[in-house]
Amino acid sequence: MATAQDPALEIEELIAKINHLNYQYYQNSVSEVSDLEFDQMLKRLEELESKHPELRLPHSPTQRVGGTVTKNFETVFHKWPMLSLSNTYSEEDLREFDKRVRKIVGDEVEYVCEQKFDGVAISLTYENGKFVQGATRGDGTRGDNITANVRTIRDIPLQAHGKNYPELFEVRGEVFMPLQVFEQLNAEREETGEQLLANPRNATSGTLKQQDSSVVANRKLGCFSYSFHTENSPYETHSESLQAIQKWGFKVSDTWRKCGNIDDVMAYINEWETRRTELPIATDGVVVKVNSYALQEELGFTAKSPRWAIAYKYAAENASTKLLDIEYQVGRTGAVTPVAILQKVALAGTVVKRASVHNANEMQRLDLRLGDTVFVEKGGEIIPKITGVDFEKRPAESQPILYPTHCPACGTELVRTEGEAQFYCPNEKGCEPQILAKLEHFIARKAMNVDELGPKTLVQLYLAGYVRNAADLYDLTLEQLVPLERMGEKSASNILKSLDKSKETPFERVLFALGIRFVGSTVAKKLAEELPDLEALRGATYEELIAINEIGDRIAQSIIAYFQDPDHVQLVERLKAAGLKFKSERTAPEIQSDKLESQTFVISGVFESVSREELQQLIVSHGGKVVSSISKKLSYLVAGDKMGPSKLEKAEKLGVKMLSEDEFLAMIK
Ligand code: IVH
Repeated sequence: MATAQDPALEIEELIAKINHLNYQYYQNSVSEVSDLEFDQMLKRLEELESKHPELRLPHSPTQRVGGTVTKNFETVFHKWPMLSLSNTYSEEDLREFDKRVRKIVGDEVEYVCEQKFDGVAISLTYENGKFVQGATRGDGTRGDNITANVRTIRDIPLQAHGKNYPELFEVRGEVFMPLQVFEQLNAEREETGEQLLANPRNATSGTLKQQDSSVVANRKLGCFSYSFHTENSPYETHSESLQAIQKWGFKVSDTWRKCGNIDDVMAYINEWETRRTELPIATDGVVVKVNSYALQEELGFTAKSPRWAIAYKYAAENASTKLLDIEYQVGRTGAVTPVAILQKVALAGTVVKRASVHNANEMQRLDLRLGDTVFVEKGGEIIPKITGVDFEKRPAESQPILYPTHCPACGTELVRTEGEAQFYCPNEKGCEPQILAKLEHFIARKAMNVDELGPKTLVQLYLAGYVRNAADLYDLTLEQLVPLERMGEKSASNILKSLDKSKETPFERVLFALGIRFVGSTVAKKLAEELPDLEALRGATYEELIAINEIGDRIAQSIIAYFQDPDHVQLVERLKAAGLKFKSERTAPEIQSDKLESQTFVISGVFESVSREELQQLIVSHGGKVVSSISKKLSYLVAGDKMGPSKLEKAEKLGVKMLSEDEFLAMIK
């Protein structure tokens, strides 16, 4: 860090930098620097300000808790401010904290150690045991009201269990995305050509900001609760509160422990630094809290954090190494991604030789040059990332890396859509890596599952000129296959059998296999549920598409554009002629009554006691029909929580009768 010539100047620079980083972190869920670097900057600023109090500015990040509030949700005030914790990275600092505490409250102090969960903080309000509000931390004083989204999280009770809870209370906790869900989400984003999410925390924060709570429900977020707030608490200690909220149905991680002294605290920290991989959520340290509420009160707060708690943070593992080259990968959708080729270096238990640079903006921001010594870090991230350049070690004659203007594979000029960070190669039908990646996607297990065909054989088939698109696969003959290198009769006939078998693949997976941009497996399933065959899909208008839950503007546009291309229409026709399934085969539910005979229903939103699928089955099993779009002839709209505003508006305009979940269930009782 630059040492100050002039403290006023350094303060100003630090404020600008930290405020920018805070904005990036809270608004865009982007961490541009490591936590350690961030904390060092903040510490330096605090130091300077306490040395020169006359230079303390009102907009300094030390004067408030951090973050700002987004516009999309209603802003709500926190009854008790949501403070942050002071951080430490060393045993020495932690022992200092303990000394300070004991100096104020005496030696009889007990601590509670907990995991520092690396998710998104949430405040949950309960009135008479009922969950009434979920809010983000925002700037600590006010946050976003995201109640509808929070309701979908199963670790959070909608009604507290038992009886002995206060009339009004708040529970705070950390919302997280289980690692498995995160990995699946990223796999889906890869499939649809979207940029990968850096870590589960970003994924969680993005999910909580979704306007459609059914999307949130699908992401299966979890929540570990860690604190309890009420007027005149009936409990004397934090640990008693944890036990109480657990009884009321909140999920409390059972990893917390009471520690009688700082040595026990250190032992807990050392134990969990290695054991943290056992947890379903990433942790980035340990939170140490004074257990007694009376002592907490005695210790009080500084402007932004309590004096009775501290976060001990594990250092993110990092290393420095040389940047040897930048490779440009062309993906299935034509997106060009720069990948840094590094001199091998050991990092967090693995050998790293490649790191993602995401896109051209990121490359520019980092100011990378070949031969640079770069810092790589692996924290919560799965893929290591370059966090910066060691400019002192930059070779004298190095030149900035120019981002290619043309596709590294086929030479076509790259294009960039406004608002997108990625460059694309538009030569969809002639660019080899794109064609091969499309074919690979088509035969993949989650798509057509042609398990006898592998990427190497695909390349052979491509080079032999037999295959240019998915439909060509179904025209392959034994005569073409057998002469190929390392093939033989047996393998050739297995490939043909496997292709034949793939014709049994259900419609939703065929749809996914087509590789329409933004149509991942979940969206394909949704489409196949709502639009029963190819004709319905091809004929669907923009309005009809976006009326389907989870299908937004971008997906609808992409589907329409796909079918506007005559080559795609021809491809799909050929696949259909080859015998692939372009029609949903729903097993008809058992008929239970004819109570809903000749009635039509549209289902919208999310429901408390039944899933949408169950609701559909119920309607059909009682003789009714489920349709996808609202018209004057529609008998009922079954409206759940968070239903699409366009549907609501249309239903109101046409005077369609609306049913709540309970009203509907009463109809078939
Ligand atoms: S206690 C003033 N306990 O860390 C008390 N916080 O830097 C602050 N966090 O915003 C909250 N795990 O998002 C507490 N076991 C834990 C925690 C935890 C993670 C987060 C929380 C908070 C931030 C404070």
